[in-house]
Amino acid sequence: MHQSVKQIPVARPHLGEEEAAAARDAILTGWVTQGPQVEAFESEFASMTGAPFACAVSSCTAALHMALVALGIGDGDEVITVSHSFIATANAIRYTGAKPVFVDIERDSCNIDPERVEAAISPRTRAILAVHQIGHPCDLTRILHIAQHHSIPVIEDAACAVGSAIRMDGSWQMIGKPHGLIACFSFHPRKVLTTGEGGMITTSEPDLLKRFTLLRQHGMTLTDRQRHNSTQVVFEEYPEIGYNYRMTDIQAAIGRVQLRKLPRLVARRRELAARYSEAIATIDGIECLPLRSWETPNFQSYAIRVLPHFSMDRNALMQFLLARGISTRPGIMNAHQEGAHLEHNPVSLPNSEDARNSMLLLPLFPDMTNVEISYIIDELRAVSQQD
Ligand SMILES: Cc1ncc(COP(=O)(O)O)c(C=O)c1O
Repeated sequence: MHQSVKQIPVARPHLGEEEAAAARDAILTGWVTQGPQVEAFESEFASMTGAPFACAVSSCTAALHMALVALGIGDGDEVITVSHSFIATANAIRYTGAKPVFVDIERDSCNIDPERVEAAISPRTRAILAVHQIGHPCDLTRILHIAQHHSIPVIEDAACAVGSAIRMDGSWQMIGKPHGLIACFSFHPRKVLTTGEGGMITTSEPDLLKRFTLLRQHGMTLTDRQRHNSTQVVFEEYPEIGYNYRMTDIQAAIGRVQLRKLPRLVARRRELAARYSEAIATIDGIECLPLRSWETPNFQSYAIRVLPHFSMDRNALMQFLLARGISTRPGIMNAHQEGAHLEHNPVSLPNSEDARNSMLLLPLFPDMTNVEISYIIDELRAVSQQD
C-alpha cells in the first residue's frame, strides 16, 4: 500500500468542531427536542429544496411510514416500488399492512423502470414509492406522467438524494421540491448530510404537513412549542394513533451546520466521482452507473458493476481490495430475496438480481484525499490486468 494511505473506509461522515459546538449550544439552551432548532432546520431545508413545507422526523423510515399513513394506505392496498433498495423502503409499506408490489430496475441506471411501473398498476394500487437510488434521481418525468394518467400519488424515497438535482420542464430543480406528492430524506451517517439519525419529509400540501406534524408526536393536537408559548391554559387531544417520530434539537442544530456545508460536500463528492468515472471508462470489465443528461447526482455512494469477463468476480474483487486496505460494500440489496419479504412476494426480478450480485460500492466521502483515490484507481487498474 502507498505509504501515506491507511485503511480507507467506504464512507466517513464529515463532522467537526462546528457541529460539536452547535450540539453543545442546543443542549445548553435546555430545549432539546422538537423546539426552535427543529423549526429553523425545517425552514432552511425547505428553502434549499424549494419545497413549500418540510417536517423533521427521527429517520427516513419514519418519514416513509408517516407518508403512507397520511395517504390512508393500509390493509389490502398495494404500493408499487423497487425491491432493489435498502430494506426500509419495503418495510415501511409492510408496517401499514399494504403489499409492496416490486418492479424491476432498468439494467443500466439501477433505478425504477417506468415501463414496469405502468404494467404493475392494478385497481388496488394506492401509491408509487419511487427510490432515487444512491442519490441518482430516478426518471421522475416519466413516472409522474404515468402516475398522473392513473391518478396515483407518488412518494419519493429520497433517503440518499439530498443535494441531487434533476432537470424537469426545462429547468434544474433540487430533489425534494417535491416533484411527487411527498419526498422523504435520511440523515443517517452514511448519507450526504447527517444528524446521527434523522429524516425529513417535504411536501407542497398544507394538509399533509398538518398530518405529519400530528402523527410524528403521538397524534397530539398541540405541539410542545404551542403549549410552552401559550398565555392561556390549553388542553391537547389525541384524535388518532400517532407515533414518536420526533427529531431532537441537538440533531437539528447539527443538521443546520451540515446544510450550510452541503454545496461544498456535494461538490467534493462530484469531483471524486468524476475521477473514478474517468478512470473506470478505461478499465475493461468494470462499468459505472450512467450519468444521464437530466440528472446531477450527489454521489452519496459510488457503485461499479463487475462484468463477467473481468479478471475476477465481484466478491473476489472486494476481498482483493480489502487486503490492500480498501473497504468496499456489496451494492444495493433486494428486499424480495430476504426472508422478511420472501413469502409475500415470490417474484423474479432479473435486473435487480444481477445488480445485487455484480455491483459493489467503492469508498467515497468528502474528506477522502487525492492520494487515496489515486491509490484505489491504481489498484483497480492493476487487478484488471491480472490474468
Ligand atoms: C433508499 C433508502 N430508503 C430508506 C432508508 C432508511 O433511512 P433511515 O436509516 O434514515 O431510516 C435508507 C437508508 O439507508 C435508504 O437507503
